[in-house]
Amino acid sequence: MARKLLIAGNWKMNGLMADGVALAKGIAEEVKKLGKVQCEFLVCPPFTLLSSVKKALRGTKIAMGGQNCHFADKGAHTGDISPAMLKDIGCQYVILGHSERRTNHFETNEIVNVKAQAAYSNDLKAVICVGETLMEREAGQALDVCKKQVLDSVPESATWQNTVIAYEPVWAIGTGKVPTTADVAEMHAAIRKTLAKKLGKSNANRMRILYGGSVKPSNAKELLSLNDVDGALIGGASLKVEDFLGIAKNSGAF
Ligand code: PGA
Repeated sequence: MARKLLIAGNWKMNGLMADGVALAKGIAEEVKKLGKVQCEFLVCPPFTLLSSVKKALRGTKIAMGGQNCHFADKGAHTGDISPAMLKDIGCQYVILGHSERRTNHFETNEIVNVKAQAAYSNDLKAVICVGETLMEREAGQALDVCKKQVLDSVPESATWQNTVIAYEPVWAIGTGKVPTTADVAEMHAAIRKTLAKKLGKSNANRMRILYGGSVKPSNAKELLSLNDVDGALIGGASLKVEDFLGIAKNSGAF
């Protein structure tokens, strides 16, 4: 069964109210112009913008996600946000285990795993991120590192319906550097094989594996046309309507 491409924007910590709403409206207008499309769109704004972005996306099929969540539903967790809160505000997705969370907030595979389970319990789909550092890539450990991240971060209860994997080499994020297509193809195939071992072949064959790290309109075609690449998780280029849409248009889904 063909996997529907997912074009996902990770806005990170960018956007005050006026620019965030303008960006969401701009994306909504352009997506409407595309008519019936063969891909799915997702935007993941900062928490402060979720409510307004939801309104701006009204009348479209563009999905919205959070960029992180706690594993608890509520309680004494100052500064955190629960999956129930994300669901309540209109999110369908949550990004988990992004390398910036793993590095800056010391999130381990085990933490990502319990967060993903909490997301499922609240009817949210998890976008679980994995990726090697430059040192690991240069030491020839990239495949092993990512396989372990997949095995340990992805819950046993993950299915192709509730989970998307994003392969994001840490050294490619925000740097303009992109792995060779051969390296991306090799990694995505290895991730799918690992998923098959863990979740069974039919889940693995239908689960989407996105590529992320310096995706832009000019490299979207070669990356997104690879066999096991089922979309993109886009940081910098998701902050401009024309770049975000440009990536979708060059994805091969049209
Ligand atoms: P980038 O970020 O597209 O700016 O490299 C990707 C990401 O961190 O998800």
